[in-house]
Amino acid sequence: MNVYDGQRIASMLRGRGYTQTDNYADADIIILNTCAVRAKATDKVFSALGRIRAEKKPDALMGIVGCVARESGADAFRRAPELNFVLGPQSYHKLPEILENPDARLFNIDLGGLEKFDEMPQMDASPVVAYIPIQEGCNHCCTYCIVPYTRGREISRPFDDVMRDTVHAANTGAIEICFLGQNVNGYKYTDEKGQTYRLSDLIRATAKLDTIKRIRFTSSYPTEMTDDLIDMFRTEPKLLPFLNMPIQSGSPNVLTKMNRPYTLDLYIDIVDKLKSARPDVQISSDFIVGFPGESDDDFNQTLEIARRIKYINSFSFKYSPRPHTAAALMPNQIPEKIKSARLYELDALLNEIQREFNESCVGRELECLCDGADKTGKYTIYRTPYMQTCIVHIPTDAAPQIAKIKITAANKASLRGEIIGASEL
Ligand code: 5AD
Ligand code: SF4
Repeated sequence: MNVYDGQRIASMLRGRGYTQTDNYADADIIILNTCAVRAKATDKVFSALGRIRAEKKPDALMGIVGCVARESGADAFRRAPELNFVLGPQSYHKLPEILENPDARLFNIDLGGLEKFDEMPQMDASPVVAYIPIQEGCNHCCTYCIVPYTRGREISRPFDDVMRDTVHAANTGAIEICFLGQNVNGYKYTDEKGQTYRLSDLIRATAKLDTIKRIRFTSSYPTEMTDDLIDMFRTEPKLLPFLNMPIQSGSPNVLTKMNRPYTLDLYIDIVDKLKSARPDVQISSDFIVGFPGESDDDFNQTLEIARRIKYINSFSFKYSPRPHTAAALMPNQIPEKIKSARLYELDALLNEIQREFNESCVGRELECLCDGADKTGKYTIYRTPYMQTCIVHIPTDAAPQIAKIKITAANKASLRGEIIGASEL
C-alpha cells in the first residue's frame, strides 16, 4: 500500500513539473512516506529526518506522510521542528497546499476515506505491475495492530472507480494487476441500484482485459475467503496460483488473544478448498512471535502449522507493542531475548520450507514477468507465478516483458532460469 501511495504522490508531483532525485542535496521537496506497523519503522523516520536535515538545501520543504504522521499527530512537529508538513495516509492529496503556501505548516491526519482517490489526478503512466487499491482501512481490530487507528475503518471503493483505474493501468503499460487492501478479500460494494460487487467480480472483469496477463491480490483475511473467490482460482487462469493469507500464530490461545477468531481447522479447510480449486496454489503468511503471554508450547504450535501448510514465502516479526492497541497493555509481555530466539528458529524453518519449494521447481517451465535488472545490472529478474525471484542471464534491455522460462537451478532466495519461448498468455 505504501509503494502505491508513493507512486501516486510521485505522479502528482511530476504533473506539477517536478522530477525525482535520489540526492537529498538536490531536492526542493523531501517526503518521507512512512509505516507505523512496528516501533522500529517509526523510530527510523525520526532518525532519518535528523540526517536529511544536515544534507538538504536550507529552503527545501520536508515532511512526512503516511501512518507515522497519523500515529504521532502534532507531536511530530515537536520531535522534528524542521518539518513543514505532516499528512496522514488519507490526506496526502492535500500536499499541493504546501507548495502554494510554503511558509505555513501543513497538518492533516483526518480519516477522510475515499476522498484522496477522487481528488488526486490519474496516474500519468502505469508501472508493469499496477497496484490498485480497492479498499482502505480495516475492521478486524487485531489487538496488536495499529492499522485500524492509522488507516481507519474499512471502506470499499466503488466498483466502477476501481475498474476505471484498472482499465487506465491496462492502457498505460500494466501487465499485472495487484488489487490492494488491508483486508482485500473483505471488498464489498453495493451501488445505488442495489447490486453488490465482491473481489471475485473485480477479478472476472479484469481478466477480460487483453493486455492484462496476471492478476493477484493482497492481503487476505482467512475467514473472508468466500467460495466465490476460491472459485476464481478454478476458473480464471490469469489469477496467479499464489495467495498471501496471514495466519500470524499457530496457537488457538494466542489467536484468541490477538482477536483473530478462527480455528486452525477452519484455516486448513480453506487451504484445502483452494488446493482443490487449483492444485498448485501456494500460500504465504505473516507471523508474529512473542505476542504477550506466548508460551513455548504456543510457539511450537506456530512451527507446527508452518510445517503443515508449507508456506512458500513468509514474513515473520517480533511482536512490537504499538500505541492505540490493546495488546500493548496486556500482561506477560515477552522479553526481547526470547522473541529474538523464537524469530530465529521460525525463520530457519520457513527458509528451509522455501528452499524445498524452490528446488522442487527445477525443471519446470513457468510463465514469468520481467521485474527489471538485478543489482549488478548484468542479469534480469523475473517473477514466477508464485512470485519467486528468477534470475535470467540476459541483459535487461534484451529481455521480453513476459516469457516462458525453464527453471535450471534454485536456492533458498531465488531461482535461475533460461528463456525457452514467448509467453502463451
Ligand atoms: N508487531 C509485530 N508485527 C506486527 N504486524 C502488525 N502489527 C504488528 C506488531 N504490533 C505484522 C502482522 C501483519 C504485518 C503487516 O505486520 O504480521 O500481517
Ligand atoms: Fe491489522 Fe491485518 Fe488485523 Fe486488520 S486484519 S487489524 S490490518 S493485522
